Amino acid sequence: MTKDSNPAPPAHPFLKWAGGKTQLLRQLSQRLPAEIKNGEITNYVEPFVGGGAVFFSLTNKFPFKTRYIFDLNEELILVYRVIKKSTDKLIHELDFLESEYISGSNEDRERLFYSVRDLFNQKKQGINFQKYDPGWVTRAAYCIFLNRTCYNGLFRMNRKGEFNVPFGKYKNPRILNKNNLREVACILNKTSIIPGDFTGCKKYVDNKTFVYLDPPYRPISTTSSFTAYSKDGFSDKDQDRLAGLFHELDKKGAKIMLSNSDPRSENPNDPFFEELYSDYTIERVPARRIINCNGSDRGQINELIITNYR
Ligand SMILES: C[S@@+](CC[C@H](N)C(=O)[O-])C[C@H]1O[C@@H](n2cnc3c(N)ncnc32)[C@H](O)[C@@H]1O
Repeated sequence: MTKDSNPAPPAHPFLKWAGGKTQLLRQLSQRLPAEIKNGEITNYVEPFVGGGAVFFSLTNKFPFKTRYIFDLNEELILVYRVIKKSTDKLIHELDFLESEYISGSNEDRERLFYSVRDLFNQKKQGINFQKYDPGWVTRAAYCIFLNRTCYNGLFRMNRKGEFNVPFGKYKNPRILNKNNLREVACILNKTSIIPGDFTGCKKYVDNKTFVYLDPPYRPISTTSSFTAYSKDGFSDKDQDRLAGLFHELDKKGAKIMLSNSDPRSENPNDPFFEELYSDYTIERVPARRIINCNGSDRGQINELIITNYR
């Protein structure tokens, strides 16, 4: 077989994303509803798409006719939209940044990182995140560049909405993966990408829909920083609102799967999710995760998978 005739590797996340579900894909796919496999479910809805580990994995495998992804993080949604609309221009800009980075000394690389970070933060003011603009291409390139070269591959904003993660000192970071961006663009071409709160998904859900809900983790220890996806975090009130949405979508006849951290890993008497989802199936699966800020405490904890079907 020649190199060109090799099938392209399937699309996968193009950003490193806190809470990404790559590690949990096997457990999640073992618990999909039968209606996805037999083709009765034709619509896919993911209100907390993040880096899209589950979205890409499922859309690579199943030919949903329609799909809708959402996230509150406007910068993330901007990148998804640019990949969909301006793949080649984005590749061109990333190619340039990657060459600059790779050919530089350690000091040059660090200088490039901080000058891109400054530009990224300075330009934020003028952006209308609702309306596509050709200027978004550079911003999306900066965002991917910063994500691949910053410390720990985080995408963290401070209260002012500025990206504030320091330089990562990686020897050989992969800044541009052309083939993957093209595969991702193919999938996004048939996907609606919508910024905003998870409740916005309601009108796209019917009885032929599979909904995967992966909200920010409920912190399992007081030092955990895993609710810091956006500048606003995700409170127990938001978890209540989400349970309300779960009930509503259940009544519409959709098949729903939700994942979250298991608070009982830390406090065996915490019934938070059992109370919110008492009408549904709750399973615990083992997960390995960093459970404190400095990353030193990596222990065995569980993840919850909650479904409205068996
Ligand atoms: C656990 S992450 C999702 C990770 C994703 N499943 C993956 O594999 O990369 C949770 C996501 O929810 C988003 N988010 C936080 N609050 C939200 C809200 N109120 N509505 C919609 N999305 C929200 C965050 O920006 C973050 O991307």
